[in-house]
Amino acid sequence: MARADKEMKAGKWNKKGLTGVELTGKTLGVIGLGKVGGIVVRVGKALDMTVLVYDPYVTEKKAEELSVRKCDLDTLLRESDFVSIHTPLTPETKNLIGLEKLRLMKKTARLINAARGGIVNEDALCEALKGGVIASAGLDVFEKEPLAADSKLRALENAVLTPHLGASTTEAQERVAEDIAKQFVEFFRDGVIRNAVNLPFRRT
Ligand SMILES: NC(=O)c1ccc[n+]([C@@H]2O[C@H](COP(=O)([O-])OP(=O)(O)OC[C@H]3O[C@@H](n4cnc5c(N)ncnc54)[C@H](O)[C@@H]3O)[C@@H](O)[C@H]2O)c1
Repeated sequence: MARADKEMKAGKWNKKGLTGVELTGKTLGVIGLGKVGGIVVRVGKALDMTVLVYDPYVTEKKAEELSVRKCDLDTLLRESDFVSIHTPLTPETKNLIGLEKLRLMKKTARLINAARGGIVNEDALCEALKGGVIASAGLDVFEKEPLAADSKLRALENAVLTPHLGASTTEAQERVAEDIAKQFVEFFRDGVIRNAVNLPFRRT
């Protein structure tokens, strides 16, 4: 869609060169079944996709409740047509997807990372996208933000890039403002410190 829009504005009508793929009937692999991953699962199910989940911290019971199949990471990468990442960036998830893992994926597969930069190794991804190891990628987050003006990713036709817009909606910004206001009230009224990056949850 981004390419279609760009070409239309450049005066072209490239209908033949812009054939897409459908989601319905395909396999969606969700890495990390938390708040965002859970929503992505629901959307995938609504589109009649088969959904696979890799999340070592999620119980079989939760996977059953959501009617998804829990599996290991390699199985998810081998079987999915679309892989969407929704984990935090931790020592365990840093470079979780490198060249070795990308090579397990289908040549037709599409990889989306709107979680945190660094979970997918950018050098490996560039190599995979250039070499046809996977079909394309959608990235909202990057190892270093803002993304360097001369980043190799910017030159790739099969990478769609957005500048960390995952939470950039009017509604999300209102929720953030409300959360911050509540946290101030809790601190001044009850002495409770919530969500501090440099302190455990505590009462003063
Ligand atoms: N692009 C954006 O603007 C944007 C907006 C919202 C959230 N995010 C990011 O999306 C990610 C998910 O957010 P969330 O709110 O759903 O978080 P969450 O904490 O609710 O869920 C994270 C999930 O990842 C799982 N997980 C942890 N380590 C894992 C591992 N090694 N392998 C597989 N799964 C693992 C956890 O068990 C959990 O279920 C976070 O990195 C968050 O920062 C980005």
